[in-house]
Amino acid sequence: MEGEISMETVVATTKEELKQEIDCWRNAGETIGLVPTMGYLHEGHASLIRRARQECDRVMVSVFVNPTQFAPGEDLEAYPRDFERDRQLCRQLGVDLIFHPTPEVMYPQGFGTTIAMDQSMTGVLCGKTRPTHFQGVCTVVCKLFGLSHADRAYFGQKDAQQLAIVRKMNRDLDLGVTVVGCPIVREADGLAKSSRNVYLNPQERQAALVLSQAVKLGQEKVAQGETDADAIVSAMKEHIGKEPLARIDYVEAVDDIDLRPAHTVVSGTLFAMAVYIGKTRLIDNFITGGDAK
Ligand code: PAJ
Repeated sequence: MEGEISMETVVATTKEELKQEIDCWRNAGETIGLVPTMGYLHEGHASLIRRARQECDRVMVSVFVNPTQFAPGEDLEAYPRDFERDRQLCRQLGVDLIFHPTPEVMYPQGFGTTIAMDQSMTGVLCGKTRPTHFQGVCTVVCKLFGLSHADRAYFGQKDAQQLAIVRKMNRDLDLGVTVVGCPIVREADGLAKSSRNVYLNPQERQAALVLSQAVKLGQEKVAQGETDADAIVSAMKEHIGKEPLARIDYVEAVDDIDLRPAHTVVSGTLFAMAVYIGKTRLIDNFITGGDAK
């Protein structure tokens, strides 16, 4: 993916190992960029890492399939993992440190604190079908902010609701991190890159294009001057509805910061969707007036 950079990437699996590295950096007055991931890295993750590499003295990537953001019956066990490949990619991208803890390191016996944000942002969109998901995300991200002492943390607009929620948590709890949103990276044919795309069989992979096609359709309508968000949502739904393998979970227009329903298109209207392709649930979105801030 990238020319080899002749430097070692340290792998820390315990908090003590992590602290040793982070303390060195902080003592030297270096800025720290954090890229939280669940691994099985692809070009979407790489874009976040490159941005962090440009903007920070030190880059830490966390690779942790966080059990608390999966509900029983979701794909925690099946979630794809390939740490050796992730390690190599991180090395090529000039990552200084990978934090790769076990669930026991992150959630030791007696762990008893979770971050529960009010429902206005966590109970909508993906929160309707995944009611405990964002509590798990917030808790792990808050821990990673604390462990990394990050100045800046990088998140993809691919997960626009997650980005908005992390920003809110960061504000509400005065965590003091600069949260940076990065644009969606797509396959050549438009499908948003996702670790979960490996679940798709060839037929489903083809059918999955309805998501990015609906994004394009919505963007075209906005470009043509359509300001009725509900009409755009209807057109997007109608397009997705034509694909027999697709089942819509939701297509909605909301404000990209507070996730309240939007009926008129303004700058910062987020059109977000979740669609099942066979058994695989995929998400995609676009924000009017440009990418995530
Ligand atoms: P994961 O799905 O591994 O994604 C890690 C980061 O990469 C997220 O910020 C996500 O938005 C970003 N990302 C994924 N696909 C992308 C794409 N196609 N283009 C741009 N960015 C993309 O999101 C999580 O992990 C977890 O919830 C986590 C934040 C790590 C907490 O466990």
